[in-house]
Amino acid sequence: MNEYDSDRIKNALGAEPTDNPKSADIIIINTCAIREKADQKAFSSLGKYKSLKANHPEKIVGISGCVAQLYGDKLLKKMPHIDFVLGPRAIPKLPDIISAIEREKKRTVETSYDIEELFEIEPYHKEGKVTAFVSVQQGCNKRCSYCIVPRVRGDEVNRSLKDILRETNNLVNKGVREITFIGQTVNSWKENGYKFGDLIRAAGDIENLERIRFTTSYPRDITKRMIDAMKDVPQVCHHLHLPVQSGSNKVLSMMKRTYTREWYVDTINRLKDAVPDLSVSTDIIIGFPGETGQDFEETMSLMKEVEFESSYSFKFSPRPTTAAADYAEKETVEPDVASARLSELQAYQKDITSKKNQSRVGQVEEVLVEGESKNDPNFLSGRTDHNRILNFEGAKDLVGKTVKVKVTEGLLNSLRGELAV
Ligand code: 5AD
Repeated sequence: MNEYDSDRIKNALGAEPTDNPKSADIIIINTCAIREKADQKAFSSLGKYKSLKANHPEKIVGISGCVAQLYGDKLLKKMPHIDFVLGPRAIPKLPDIISAIEREKKRTVETSYDIEELFEIEPYHKEGKVTAFVSVQQGCNKRCSYCIVPRVRGDEVNRSLKDILRETNNLVNKGVREITFIGQTVNSWKENGYKFGDLIRAAGDIENLERIRFTTSYPRDITKRMIDAMKDVPQVCHHLHLPVQSGSNKVLSMMKRTYTREWYVDTINRLKDAVPDLSVSTDIIIGFPGETGQDFEETMSLMKEVEFESSYSFKFSPRPTTAAADYAEKETVEPDVASARLSELQAYQKDITSKKNQSRVGQVEEVLVEGESKNDPNFLSGRTDHNRILNFEGAKDLVGKTVKVKVTEGLLNSLRGELAV
């Protein structure tokens, strides 16, 4: 989501992006507030530009994103070297803000939840890139007790089907072959009687669009309509990111996740009945206030029952304005207990991911070639249908093409292979 917003910011400015802050006229730190660590990272990044701004007062320095929304004008007071504070909903207002600063040297805070032009600024798209994100929804209507997103991104706003398809078509005409629809709870998307399954079917009719992905799905919004579309539309990739957060019903209820463990497992089974080789990844929060050893064991038993392809796991972080921050004042899980639980879960996941990667050795996978491998320019890199990175040797003109690759090695974070034809 943040990467997407950074690309929208680049486009809103219409400026040439640079990696070198010294040569930049405008420096914007786009921030995330989901956990305390991310939020601290924002402050330390901002601090780095203090002396640059002191030596070059003509440079414009701003903070955008969820931390900007959360702290608003307090940031201007605390950080005299920044010129503006811009919430995630206000990206379309960025050009006006910059002009006002240039004209009047006026420091600005823009954190309204205005939705009028919300989808008007589309992201910067690097020429030749074969994958792209398309936003279908902003904000969130769920009220998970630990989560700051509704506070900083506002309530759910869905983009029109017409607009989504227009942007998708434009990208495909520029050479994009894989689209990832994004939204906080992407599968709750709806518009004018259309539901998420209808969006997938409509995207499936776009010529030359080879792959459709979407993230992040919310378990309770998985419907028969959605499952049928995933089954029927051949371009839909066989991977689903479905955050479960905990395997304990008590904790799920305190998190206000609106489903039980049994319901979640049953949903995965329904999905796998329809799409037998579906790979599923998840998010887990460890050390939620009141999580007992028994609750953690239930999470571990869920991990063993489902065997996720991969998982992202985090220690609970109390966030301002959330209900769980209040629970944490009464029932904090000791940090070393939470760390030990997190390590145990992560070690287990590592084994499962390696095992699953190794089980693919010998198989031929379809890979959309995205570019050179990050670690070795002699290798090309792409992802399998199941969202595993697969690196292999091949000519650069394969970038953008879908090729068959035989897997020869299953590593922890990726696969290695050789061209099959
Ligand atoms: N503490 C820890 N993890 C969190 N997440 C969201 N809020 C918190 C929090 N307060 C995690 C959830 C979510 C992912 C994006 O971040 O697992 O799915």
